[in-house]
Amino acid sequence: MFDTMTITKAAGALIGSLLALLLLFWAATGLYHVGPPGGADHGEGEEVAQAYSIPVENAGGGEAEAEEEIDFEALMAAADPAAGERVFGKCRSCHKLDGSDGIGPHLNGVMGRAVASVSGFAYSDPMVAHADEAPEWTPEAMQVFLADPRGVVSGTKMTFAGLPEAEDRANLIAYLQEQP
Ligand code: HEC
Repeated sequence: MFDTMTITKAAGALIGSLLALLLLFWAATGLYHVGPPGGADHGEGEEVAQAYSIPVENAGGGEAEAEEEIDFEALMAAADPAAGERVFGKCRSCHKLDGSDGIGPHLNGVMGRAVASVSGFAYSDPMVAHADEAPEWTPEAMQVFLADPRGVVSGTKMTFAGLPEAEDRANLIAYLQEQP
């Protein structure tokens, strides 16, 4: 029934899958050993590995969190108003800087201005309500808003997707600070 060729192929396939299983097993054991200590039998080596890996993990997480906060201040300190003027090109179709209002309220003097305070401009109710939570356009409030306008002021009539790059937001804010 079985000729040598068939048996060789079958054996080959079997050995192949055994080998794959073995490799998987090795990989899995390897992974387990990177995480929590695997066995208590050789405590010293295990502890050394742990003492090394855990602080690295913690430091990584802590740094990433701290970075989010520190980052923006650092970006503001290094911000380039000229680059911000180019970013303002995305706002220009709706916002002017000469004190007159368009689709949106004028943005000259907006830094430090009270939220939703341009008289004669018909703000949406959500923007008026936003003034209760965040009364003033501080750099921080502005950068949070510009990252995701419709997420921060849900229902705003500002139909703008936002500026995903923190650097763009910092540069733009530096530019707006120069527009009295
Ligand atoms: C498609 C038009 C449009 C674009 C583009 C746009 N805005 Fe607006 N913006 C508006 C409108 C409309 C409002 C009023 C929102 C409301 O009342 O809900 C507004 C409101 C604002 C406010 C609140 C002002 C205040 O007096 O409280 C700020 C700040 C602002 N926009 C900044 C920007 C910046 C910066 C950009 C560019 C990165 C931009 N907007 C792009 C339409 C736009």
